[in-house]
Amino acid sequence: MMDVVSSFLIVYLSVIVSLTNGIPTEYNVGIGIADITGPAAEVNMMGYANPAQTSRGLHLRQFSRTFIFEDQMKNKVVYINLDACMFSQGLKLEIVRQLKNKYGDAYTERNVLITGTHTHSTPGGFHQYLLYDITSLGFVRETFDSLVEGILRSVDRAHDNMKPANIYVNTGELLESNINRSPSAYLKNPPEERAKYKYNVDKNMTVIKIVDADNFPIGMISWFAVHCTSMNNTNRLISSDNKGLAALMLEADRNGQTVLPGKGAFVAAFAQSNEGDVSPNTKGPHCLDTGLPCDFNHSTCNGKNELCVAFGPGNDMFESTEIIARRQYIQAKKLFDTASTLVQGPVDFRHTYTDMSKQTVGEGKKTCKPAMGYSFAAGTTDGPGAFDFTQGSNSSSPFWNAVSGFIKKPSEEQNKCHAPKPILLDTGEIEFPYAWEPSIVDTQIFRVGQLFLIAVPAEFTTMSGRRTRDAVAKTLKDNGFKGEPVPIVAGLSNDYADYVTTFEEYQEQRYEGGSTIYGPHTLEAYINVYMNLSKAMTTGSPVTPGPNPPDLMSEQLSFLPPVVFDAAGFGNNFADVKQQPNKQYKVGERVTVKFVGANPRNNRRLESTFLTVEFQEQSGANTVVYTDANWETQFHWESHGIGESTITILWDIPVGQKPGMYKITYNCDHKSIFSGVSSVTGSTEWFQVVASRAKLDKFQQKNKLLNKKKENEIKKGFKKTLSKLKSENVKGMNNLA
Ligand SMILES: *[C@@H]1O[C@H](CO)[C@@H](O)[C@H](O)[C@H]1NC(C)=O
Ligand SMILES: *[C@@H]1O[C@H](CO)[C@@H](O)[C@H](O)[C@H]1NC(C)=O
Ligand SMILES: *[C@@H]1O[C@H](CO)[C@@H](O)[C@H](O)[C@H]1NC(C)=O
Ligand SMILES: *[C@@H]1O[C@H](CO)[C@@H](O)[C@H](O)[C@H]1NC(C)=O
Ligand SMILES: *[C@@H]1O[C@H](CO)[C@@H](O)[C@H](O)[C@H]1NC(C)=O
Repeated sequence: MMDVVSSFLIVYLSVIVSLTNGIPTEYNVGIGIADITGPAAEVNMMGYANPAQTSRGLHLRQFSRTFIFEDQMKNKVVYINLDACMFSQGLKLEIVRQLKNKYGDAYTERNVLITGTHTHSTPGGFHQYLLYDITSLGFVRETFDSLVEGILRSVDRAHDNMKPANIYVNTGELLESNINRSPSAYLKNPPEERAKYKYNVDKNMTVIKIVDADNFPIGMISWFAVHCTSMNNTNRLISSDNKGLAALMLEADRNGQTVLPGKGAFVAAFAQSNEGDVSPNTKGPHCLDTGLPCDFNHSTCNGKNELCVAFGPGNDMFESTEIIARRQYIQAKKLFDTASTLVQGPVDFRHTYTDMSKQTVGEGKKTCKPAMGYSFAAGTTDGPGAFDFTQGSNSSSPFWNAVSGFIKKPSEEQNKCHAPKPILLDTGEIEFPYAWEPSIVDTQIFRVGQLFLIAVPAEFTTMSGRRTRDAVAKTLKDNGFKGEPVPIVAGLSNDYADYVTTFEEYQEQRYEGGSTIYGPHTLEAYINVYMNLSKAMTTGSPVTPGPNPPDLMSEQLSFLPPVVFDAAGFGNNFADVKQQPNKQYKVGERVTVKFVGANPRNNRRLESTFLTVEFQEQSGANTVVYTDANWETQFHWESHGIGESTITILWDIPVGQKPGMYKITYNCDHKSIFSGVSSVTGSTEWFQVVASRAKLDKFQQKNKLLNKKKENEIKKGFKKTLSKLKSENVKGMNNLA
């Protein structure tokens, strides 16, 4: 009923709006992008839980992309997509606190949704629950501060440019970009359920296109389920991985190639969905020693999980990232260009805090206090076996040595509740020094017209996501929703509570089942909550706020040592060039230069850059053509001696780069014990970039061969026809020959 009334009002109001604008618009939309890059040295990357994988430079900057949607009744929701592994509850509490200070009740924990792309190559240490900060040596203030500062900046920018807009939605299949990394668990789902689907992962990409009142495109959001693990656990450069690069590609496409990353008006978000069991490494898992496929059921090689690694479509991780990014970008662009289904209807939201450890889903079926299974320590084929230091308290990690003594044997009740999961870490029964994993999580649904974003605080597997979407769609229709709802799982949102598998997949206890922390009935419990939220939405009723989550920010332990000081080394100055470029390069070649450097943790340079590539214009003026946020550049940090650093900057000159004179500049922030951090810049000599004859020749050569082949085929075809004619004894044939 509410629905009908508000729809009517909106149509009525839209007509009024149409009098003042080019075309009638359904919504107001504000869009903003800002830099959230974390510390580019010494901080553990979040995702693979590999203590050795600490940051040592930067390949792509991390961005926060904010979209505010408002209907004609002024109902608002804020959707924020981050180039980060996930979001954290401690961060959401902080963001909401600051938003309330600035905007009053406009933006709250209820109508703000913050989600991560799940890149595994960005700095960690931003969680309030202990387990997720173990490999980062506890809480890392620098990572946390970058996220808070950048997210708020992106919201401010979105808030300040709200404008009348329309939204279109489109869905299509994207093939060859994702595979199931636990197919043996997927096969445990009922055959009749599996028979409804063509693939064991979701291939659908859903795209929304946002245009202003002049029908000019201003933004895009796409959802596609695939882990951002194209860069593997040996990568030390901050990177937004396949989704972050896809976003830069579409933004460059719309804003123009000369607009620097993160600086354009058009903003594209590539968001995550039900990617729990979905890998981008499409060549599949193989044994590093033999090259043969791994054991299907256990992802092991000769019983060892460390040797079983999945590889991407490319020859190395950079190429794989580029390929998976490009495929998402091309498909998103196609769906964007052809989107014609108008999004219509109110903006709405429902949010409740849910204690996931205390849900009952049927006779004797309950959820459990959190616990991690043994298969969690084995890791996945995207990053195997990195958590094996859990086995003993003697590790090189001071944080782990400080907290591992609190681990205790699970109670009988816990063991029974989680069966058949063998418990490795009984996180739900340890409260010291503070909670290890969440019990109370954010559960939320956003509505924008016929779109329903199901914000889940976890990594749902393919089938878990499908069941959740179906349950929400059915609940909406059963309660009077007219038309076809478009339910979308917005994975890794607001909070992080590990994985969610179906009950059947859980029995297989692969990594995802071992990391389903509330036991075998976790999915059913979540589905009940989202059905409740969607029912409340269609009937226009409120939901209970739920129990407040704890705020543990004041209790955080930190074991990451600070930067003490930098030294340039005898006879050197900071930012001195240690290795000059060659005098000349052809397009397609790589420029490598080195500088006397400092620890990049001294200044994260948000909204700025550690490096620039500059082009000399005819006028003599210099134009910055690349920053550290471009795919074409890499910024490497290396430490040696006592406090000394070397910075290596790479620039891969793209084919098509304008010929002319270029130089590379390094922005150095160095720390002294007495006077704090100071900045200095250093530039290389000018070098020349020339167009490459070789590239062109190779292309023409290839074309020639192709033409030759075609010619031969035509000749062959002609001969065939001739002999056919001969055999059929056609009159006059001899003349032809
Ligand atoms: C993919 O999208 C199409 C078109 O919207 C829809 O018919 C189909 O059910 C979707 N498939 C899955 C697995 O959700
Ligand atoms: C995997 O395990 C199942 C039993 O759960 C067995 O039937 C199947 O043969 C195994 N597959 C392989 C390839 O080992
Ligand atoms: C990571 O990728 C690189 C190639 O870029 C490869 O040499 C290495 O073996 C990979 N390592 C793992 C653990 O996947
Ligand atoms: C830890 O290492 C120390 C010194 O190497 C050794 O004495 C001690 O027994 C070890 N403890 C455990 C639990 O392995
Ligand atoms: C669903 O809503 C009902 C009514 O408000 C409430 O009693 C019940 O606890 C809710 N269930 C869940 C799982 O949130």
